[in-house]
Amino acid sequence: MGERDLVITDGLGEPQAGEVLALAEAATRRDGVAPLSEQSLLTLRAGRAHALLVLEDGAVAAYAHVDPVPEEDGGGASGELVVHPDRRGRGHGRALLRALREEARGPLRVWAHGDLPAAAALAGSEGLRRVRVLLQMRRPFDGTPLPEVTVPDGVQIRAFEVGRDEDAWLRVNGRAFADHPEQGAWTLEDVRARQNEPWFDPAGLFLAERDGQVIGFHWTKVHPEPVGEVYVVGVDPSAQGLGLGRVLTLVGLHHLRERGLPAVMLYVDEANRPAVRLYESLGFTRHAVDVMYGAPPVA
Ligand SMILES: CC(C)(COP(=O)(O)OP(=O)(O)OC[C@H]1O[C@@H](n2cnc3c(N)ncnc32)[C@H](O)[C@@H]1OP(=O)(O)O)[C@@H](O)C(=O)NCCC(=O)NCCS
Repeated sequence: MGERDLVITDGLGEPQAGEVLALAEAATRRDGVAPLSEQSLLTLRAGRAHALLVLEDGAVAAYAHVDPVPEEDGGGASGELVVHPDRRGRGHGRALLRALREEARGPLRVWAHGDLPAAAALAGSEGLRRVRVLLQMRRPFDGTPLPEVTVPDGVQIRAFEVGRDEDAWLRVNGRAFADHPEQGAWTLEDVRARQNEPWFDPAGLFLAERDGQVIGFHWTKVHPEPVGEVYVVGVDPSAQGLGLGRVLTLVGLHHLRERGLPAVMLYVDEANRPAVRLYESLGFTRHAVDVMYGAPPVA
């Protein structure tokens, strides 16, 4: 192996940013999964990444970036790291992970896309814990039968009305996701921001009502790919256990299929066994997996 240099920089200009993009593409071809998120690639291309580079004889052998995590999302820092496929097994990954932890100046989360054995071994041997496993599940609309919807007695399903249903939706969302800090804390501003997105369609946001009260919802989304998404499903705690989650999910799936989409995807925490089982029973299978490793501050 040649000489190893570590460079930490806020202003990654050309041609190094181009070298990093080529490295990420080579890793994607080798591993079958992209090592950097879409957001990280955007920041990198814009020359705004807080970057750590391992140079081997002047060439970029490995790349990592680190970003502060806002206090309301738990604070600390989050990052990703990747070693060029032709330069692995030479200690670059370990050296870069240690530098990343120093650079985080506090607790660090590292996202590993694809749950690859090398990442698991490196993280484990550096004392990092698997904090979260986020699954992307998918289901094709390829003729696999979709069960019919049977709405429980006394429950009505209708589409969201902009300007009328926001408060009721927020109340149920807050109650359904009381244990889920990010989703449960949504405000009117968060809803409005999404209503202003090009993909927003109130006809794809379904509400379940009982005695005039909203008790659950299914918000669907359509991506340009094109693929549908089960964006958020929530059921008020007072109405859980009636099978409403399944009913609402199915209502949205029928809607997405009728729009002619080839498939539907969703993200779910692997630890959320009831949800994973529900989606499996509706024909979803694992499509991709992201693992978040947590590192305590360097002593
Ligand atoms: C994970 C990754 C960063 C490792 O980089 P690397 O430079 O090859 O790793 P190192 O040479 O520093 O090896 C560190 C440890 O990783 C583990 N490791 C490396 N390659 C491995 C492999 N093919 N299988 C199993 N474990 C492996 C070993 O525990 C190794 O320690 P050891 O040499 O004492 O046995 C690299 O494979 C990569 O870029 N993967 C894709 C991106 C990714 O998953 N990033 C998240 C990292 S948490």
